[in-house]
Amino acid sequence: MDSLELTSPTALRTFVQGIRAAAPYIYAFRGNTFVIALDGEVVASEKFIGIIHDLNLLHSLGFRLIVVHGMRPQIEAILAQQNIESRFANGVRVTDADTMDCVLEAAGQVRSRIEALLSLGLANSPMAGARNRISSGNYLTAKPLGVIDGQDMQLTGTIRRIDREAIQQRLDDGDIVLISPLGYSPTGEIFNLTMEVVAARVAIRLEALKLIFLFGGDGLRKDKKRIDTISTDEAETLLKKPRRLPEALRLYLPQAIYASRGGVPRVHFLSSRRDGALLIELFTRQGVGTMLSHRSLEAVRAADIDDIGSILALIEPLETEGILVRRSRERLEAEIEQFIVIEYDNLIIGCAALAPFVDENVGEMAALAVHPEFQREGYGEMLLHHIEGWARKLNLEAIFALTTHTAHWFVERGFRQVPVSQLPLKKQVLYNYQRNSLVYWKKL
Ligand code: ARG
Repeated sequence: MDSLELTSPTALRTFVQGIRAAAPYIYAFRGNTFVIALDGEVVASEKFIGIIHDLNLLHSLGFRLIVVHGMRPQIEAILAQQNIESRFANGVRVTDADTMDCVLEAAGQVRSRIEALLSLGLANSPMAGARNRISSGNYLTAKPLGVIDGQDMQLTGTIRRIDREAIQQRLDDGDIVLISPLGYSPTGEIFNLTMEVVAARVAIRLEALKLIFLFGGDGLRKDKKRIDTISTDEAETLLKKPRRLPEALRLYLPQAIYASRGGVPRVHFLSSRRDGALLIELFTRQGVGTMLSHRSLEAVRAADIDDIGSILALIEPLETEGILVRRSRERLEAEIEQFIVIEYDNLIIGCAALAPFVDENVGEMAALAVHPEFQREGYGEMLLHHIEGWARKLNLEAIFALTTHTAHWFVERGFRQVPVSQLPLKKQVLYNYQRNSLVYWKKL
């Protein structure tokens, strides 16, 4: 492992920011179960050692890890050596007895490699002595897949039962659980299973917080840009044109959707080409891969007392710059029911308030603020839209806003400037002529 040379002040600052940004995720994730699906290509690549280090690190932080491995390229190599033709039906391998021998050989190779590397610890680091125990076992009971489209799949199987208690027991003991895509029948037969199916089913059954597919090839892109989040419905649309998808995604996406619908809150797709991809994806908001989730990540809701700290953090910088009028914590506490917030992934990223003037039947929109990292993504609009809806529900005829800096923003959204004298009397009394804000008005 390279040791970090934090010589420049900028490097140090970035380092500190990085750790601070990671801390809430570590706190939220530790103690939860993660299924990591490694495809065979990743296991074979020279990047694999870095991934193993990252898995060790996650394990040491208290993540419960289940690693499911694939082995397609390894099986292909052995089949080729033995001059056995490889056969697929609908993307699934047809496993006859000779092929099964090759599958078992490949599984042996791959799992030994993973076990060996996971035992390695982090050389030249304080983690060098950390012992990882890796457990594997007969966790999967399988049955034959049977005849599909007229093709007898022979020893290709499907999962019949997952021994959840046994896996949980190993995780409770602090082990990393390693699962090969092989299943056993009560009569002692072995079946060849599909890695992505195993990963998805195990993730559902073990109520994993995340299922993460790590693969060698390209990730999901659109117009050359990474697709960073995607809903299950959008993913289904993509599957209608499978030829446009990178191969790994074509295989994994259907299972990812299945897992997502089955209750796994987030499924991630990561190309292993980027060193540290797992850590970046888990410990930054932006991530590096594509995240699939059933529910939308953001929600607008009424603020409550617990949001005060976050709201203050949002508006204070704007107060300092003179963009918003200062308001005290006490006042905020007293007026908290006038606030709405946008929550993104458990983080408050925007707020706005509506103060009704009942006599005049109008409302003031105030304290509109969006977190700097989330600006220009339409969150201001989202807040305005909700404030307008709320004002309509209260049967208000108009909303207004006082601004010194952002007049154009309001104009672009249907407000027009009015004289101060149009303000409700109570507001006029408080009007600060020194500040000289402009008044923008929008009829509802
Ligand atoms: N670190 C967060 C998580 O693991 C967010 C990741 C976001 N990733 C993305 N591809 N948009 O849940």
